[in-house]
Amino acid sequence: MNNFDFYRPTRYIFGHGCENDTGSYAKEYGFKKALVVSGGNFAKRSGLLARVCSSLERAGISYVSLEGVKPNPRADLVYKGIELGRSENADFLLAVGGGSVIDTAKAIALGIPYEGDFFDFFLGKSKPQKALKTAVVLTIPAAGSEGSNSAVIEKEINGNIVKNGLGCDFNVPLFSVMDPELTFTLPAYQTACGVTDMMAHIMERYFTNTQNVDVTDRMCEGLLCSIIANAPVAITEPDNYSARANLMWAGTMAHNNICGVGREQDWATHHLEHQLSALYDVAHGAGLAVMFPAWMEYCLRHDVMRFAQFAVRVFGISMDYEKPERTAKAGIAALRAFLKRIGMPLNFEQIGAHSEDIPKLLDMLGVDDHERFEGHFVKLHRSDCEKIYKLAAEYRD
Ligand code: NZQ
Ligand code: ZN
Repeated sequence: MNNFDFYRPTRYIFGHGCENDTGSYAKEYGFKKALVVSGGNFAKRSGLLARVCSSLERAGISYVSLEGVKPNPRADLVYKGIELGRSENADFLLAVGGGSVIDTAKAIALGIPYEGDFFDFFLGKSKPQKALKTAVVLTIPAAGSEGSNSAVIEKEINGNIVKNGLGCDFNVPLFSVMDPELTFTLPAYQTACGVTDMMAHIMERYFTNTQNVDVTDRMCEGLLCSIIANAPVAITEPDNYSARANLMWAGTMAHNNICGVGREQDWATHHLEHQLSALYDVAHGAGLAVMFPAWMEYCLRHDVMRFAQFAVRVFGISMDYEKPERTAKAGIAALRAFLKRIGMPLNFEQIGAHSEDIPKLLDMLGVDDHERFEGHFVKLHRSDCEKIYKLAAEYRD
């Protein structure tokens, strides 16, 4: 196990009706004015936004609203939010929504005290020195942004869409209010996208070269097993509280890095996927369902026993001691079968992506065959990434 320093001080407030007390939690920190960020439709239409805002009023906290965050959130609304937050003297951000809303709020929180262009942080041109605090009312278990140190934003630069993530301590939310009942309205497809994303967050950590990481291995496997058991229930019974609650907590544990400490992590698949969601505006989870099994196929021979362990412990496949590669491959097939069962796409065609665009995706990814690569478990240069995109494009059931 590697040395680590783990500090993720988000307070999680979890359970029935807790969103109605958001204002009193915010008051505990002495906040006076919220910039409330929400999405295009759900929070307003369902009455959630009104309930959260009245809880702020009851707590004596004034607020200003910024609505209209779209999935795969754009920089434009972040700029608008920065202006609004400054002119209205907001002293904290309150995100009411999923990953896209939370990431927009995090970016605004970084941008308000910064004199330059907030996207400099996402391009690695500058490092954040301060930020406003962000709090969350979560409505979809998926991205894990309610407990993560990252934010992902898209911006069009010179005709190309750049979708970049930024990891830093300022992005860790102060508190996250998590009521599983708020997720009853999630359509099956969106539920499945979230499930795929949380599984991917665990697998990005699971496939590692670090040896002797039994505790986090078993935590990853346990979470994956729980997600695999609860996802079909939540999809067929959308208002099953237990299934929704287990998925909600799993999504947070998947990405607040408790499963990632002390081990090298990979993240190539996420970066391969971000180019797909940037180019085709496909849901991040759907893109991951297409890319993760393809990445696994390509990397399998790097450590057959780790893939076999995944197959045995996560999907209950019997170990073939003579030919462990068979077990490893059966694990990838089981993952694809599960993703298909929950309604996820498995190839380019099913997400409206085209193999002719692979050179463009590779340019966007910014890899070459010399110095610039993706991943850690296996270092992937441009020709490797090209092969993985091709595997994903050409896969057929
Ligand atoms: O637009 P509204 O009306 O709000 O509807 C949303 C949206 O269309 C809808 N929705 C949310 N809660 C709902 C609901 N519909 C019905 N009932 C509810 N309770 O769901 C749609 C998707 O929302 P979005 O916020 O985009 O989903 P998600 O949480 O999957 O976030 C995806 C974004 O997060 C990024 C992704 O790249 C993508 O941009 N990620 C962020 C990470 C982070 N900050 O740590 C890590 C991830 O790997 C990921 O990259
Ligand atoms: Zn993700």
